[in-house]
Amino acid sequence: MLFPFLTLVLLAVASQTLAQAGPFAQCGGNGWTGSTSCVAGWQCVAQNAFYSQCLQQTVSTTSAPTSSSPTSTTTKTTTSSTITSCGILSATKSCSATLTVTGFPASAPTTPPSNLVGKTPALGWNSWNAYACSINETKVVAAANQFISLGLKTAGYQYINIDDCWSVMARNSTTNQIVPDPTKFPNGISGVATQVHALGLKFGIYSDAGTATCAGFPGSLGFESIDAATFNAWGVDYLKYGMSMNSVRNSNSAIRYRQMTAALAAQARPVQFNLCLWGNYDVWDWGARVGHSWRLSGDSSATWSYITSIISTAVQHLSNDTFGGHGDMDMMEIGNGALTIQEQRTHFAAWIMLKSPILLGTDLSLLNSTQLTIIKNAELLAFHQDLTIGAPAAPFTPFASAPTTSPPEYYSGKSSKGTHVFIINTAATAATKTFTFSQIPGLGASGSFSVHDMWAGADLSGTYTASATFSVTVQPHDTVAYFINVL
Ligand SMILES: *[C@@H]1O[C@H](CO)[C@@H](O)[C@H](O)[C@H]1NC(C)=O
Ligand SMILES: *[C@@H]1O[C@H](CO)[C@@H](O)[C@H](O)[C@H]1NC(C)=O
Ligand SMILES: *[C@@H]1O[C@H](CO)[C@@H](O)[C@H](O)[C@H]1NC(C)=O
Ligand SMILES: *[C@@H]1O[C@H](CO)[C@@H](O)[C@H](O)[C@H]1NC(C)=O
Repeated sequence: MLFPFLTLVLLAVASQTLAQAGPFAQCGGNGWTGSTSCVAGWQCVAQNAFYSQCLQQTVSTTSAPTSSSPTSTTTKTTTSSTITSCGILSATKSCSATLTVTGFPASAPTTPPSNLVGKTPALGWNSWNAYACSINETKVVAAANQFISLGLKTAGYQYINIDDCWSVMARNSTTNQIVPDPTKFPNGISGVATQVHALGLKFGIYSDAGTATCAGFPGSLGFESIDAATFNAWGVDYLKYGMSMNSVRNSNSAIRYRQMTAALAAQARPVQFNLCLWGNYDVWDWGARVGHSWRLSGDSSATWSYITSIISTAVQHLSNDTFGGHGDMDMMEIGNGALTIQEQRTHFAAWIMLKSPILLGTDLSLLNSTQLTIIKNAELLAFHQDLTIGAPAAPFTPFASAPTTSPPEYYSGKSSKGTHVFIINTAATAATKTFTFSQIPGLGASGSFSVHDMWAGADLSGTYTASATFSVTVQPHDTVAYFINVL
């Protein structure tokens, strides 16, 4: 009876794991199969349809306004504003408390983001999807070394970025600087940056436009200049700037982000600036004037429904994407969860063709050769990093009276080489996809063409006139990527 006994033990272990998600861990969202409850003292809070997270039960939505107790002070001589405070982005939680933040200026600097970096969308790695708050120097430096050993640096990946949870809870009471957690980062953040730079890579970090980060560590509101100077001294090249729990979120978001844009511009080191306010406040309308990329929605999850949902969102805002400013579909989930290899291919191809930053989000040592082949595909990366054409691919109608789908399945875009076509099969069964050459924007009603498979790096046989149709069987949830040769 050994087998049933073992099964019972395994089941007990599994249900124990499922019973309690840890601090800041995912605890829900469409497609989530893990634990939906949190350890004592933490509650599962929905951030969006795809991501719920265990957060500390500190935010009381019934507390009286705390306008008499400023939460942030600075030596700058500026005005005060009464602003609404809210917990983490949630459809189920309402804003009720107000607080006064001293030192919050009434108007925004209009300094643009640096034009020395961020022309094309970032390529790199971010610690969050792999490790959440369990980060440390060993893991970050390992990712940097894997960029070299796995050929990712050669393929174009540059940034090694630390997300939330890198500091201690209190600023230095003398200098007001954020203090790196000495256990996680025994050589400080500058010690990590030095090791990353020594490999010829760039280094990024995370802060928040409010008084605290998503995980409750110090945010930069009121301390923008001090933090920008500290990051500069440490060697920071990329800043992901959140707007999370304890952040003050209202229509003045752009002002708070602009404080940091200006503070970064005052430093010697150019910083690529990511605006992580989860697609709130029409960030696509002003994001390019303030930073190099802006998150289009809530946090990603390793699910097909997240991938299709964020593509549907991104295609609504493509007109704002060009050199120096890109909609951010969030960090990659390749290597995480139970995505099929076809879904992982679509994940990568969609981020490529829509020109989102691509920050790998897994323990790189666990990627297999198929996954590495996907993320190192030279032709797709060349489209993403093209220095002649800044615009992303956009949906097109593949043949007269083709049905519309959400997300769209057919996309075309230009690169310095010419015209490309990408086709997603959004169905759960294999499907034949067809387009007419003359329907591809910019190809015209005459001429002859052949088709090159960007995934395989090989020309397909056959030549076609403008009125001819091309058909291909696409696997469930897969994406094909073509370059159209004009003969
Ligand atoms: C980082 O975490 C890993 C895994 O828990 C551990 O082996 C390593 O020693 C840690 N490094 C530091 C600097 O704490
Ligand atoms: C605060 O900064 C001062 C000046 O750099 C330093 O001497 C002190 O050790 C720091 N304190 C902490 C707790 O890091
Ligand atoms: C973004 O697009 C909107 C709508 O087309 C436009 O009003 C806005 O000016 C654009 N913003 C930038 C920075 O290009
Ligand atoms: C890599 O993993 C994927 C699933 O994520 C699987 O479909 C594929 O066959 C694996 N490749 C190899 C070479 O093991």
